[in-house]
Amino acid sequence: MSLRAWFEQNRERRYIMFGGKGGLGKTTFSAATAYWLARQGHKVLVFSVDPQASLSDIFQRDIFGKGPVEVLDNLWAQEIDADSNIKAYQQEVRQKILDMYGFDQIPEEIEHYIQAASAEPAMEESAIFDAVVDIVVKGDYDYYIYDLVPLGHALYYLSMAKVYDEWINRITELREQMREHEEMVARIKRQKVTEEDQILHELQYIKGRINQSSRILTDKERTAFFFVLVPEQMIILDTEKAAQLFARFDVPIAGYIVNRILPAELAGQHLPPYLQNRLQVQDRYLDEIKKTFGSRLVGSVPELERDVTGLPMIEKLAAIMYGDGGR
Ligand SMILES: Nc1ncnc2c1ncn2[C@@H]1O[C@H](COP(=O)(O)OP(=O)(O)O)[C@@H](O)[C@H]1O
Ligand SMILES: [Mg+2]
Repeated sequence: MSLRAWFEQNRERRYIMFGGKGGLGKTTFSAATAYWLARQGHKVLVFSVDPQASLSDIFQRDIFGKGPVEVLDNLWAQEIDADSNIKAYQQEVRQKILDMYGFDQIPEEIEHYIQAASAEPAMEESAIFDAVVDIVVKGDYDYYIYDLVPLGHALYYLSMAKVYDEWINRITELREQMREHEEMVARIKRQKVTEEDQILHELQYIKGRINQSSRILTDKERTAFFFVLVPEQMIILDTEKAAQLFARFDVPIAGYIVNRILPAELAGQHLPPYLQNRLQVQDRYLDEIKKTFGSRLVGSVPELERDVTGLPMIEKLAAIMYGDGGR
């Protein structure tokens, strides 16, 4: 099946992800797919949670941390800035503390805690995750294209349960610590601790949001995950291993796309031995890929004459992947 046929036959699948090792073409395919879908008249958001995201490079626009930016008609791109999300979150916590207790300044001890909590890696994960939840729950777009981080992270990201467990723990901890402060402050100010547990209430709200988005992310009917690979031994092995792991996490794998295939027209020409050899090796790996992934192979993309940046190259790639040039 071709990629185009896949999209035409799976119209209810609106959450599209490209996964694979770093540098194989996830961001490139995300952008080309988003471009093609937008051209088909759908309102599309392509977004990245990768701190080394390159949507800015590919669209040649600085979109980092700027929220969704319309790069073309119907096509929106967004790069999530986890750091500024963490800062915004810190500020929110500070404001809540100020409001709740009528302080005019955050006590040093509490400020220290806020800083320490923000340095935790789990905090970055949750800031990213929170941003993703926001985007997905709002439901402003017809299609969501997730430009995923490399495999290991993607797996972590997709095995949501683990991420939000950690996140909820983090918040519960914060809640408990705040509760202690609340009691301390109440003693000093000779007030009663407020009955209503605002933080717990917030926690429940967040949990609801997470459930909603995790349902979407692992939804067998609405989500599709594509693996990107290249015809190389190590990559084939890694992809097989990752696919097994993903299957265990119930990730709906929709297909495999091979990238950077040396063009077939080279074969009939007089080539230096180096290139001849590369072509032979490539043929062997392409056979292996066909044997391994069979009918789940939904696309083959040639090595282009240059890297894919700027709209003309995105358009060219989209034509190869989804137009007549695609196989
Ligand atoms: N088929 C291709 N032909 C030429 N260059 C490609 C092709 N696919 C990807 N690239 C280039 O390879 C680099 C890595 O691709 P990218 O999509 O950023 O990988 P990932 O997101 O998986 O890390 C980019 O410079 C991109 O332009
Ligand atoms: Mg990338």
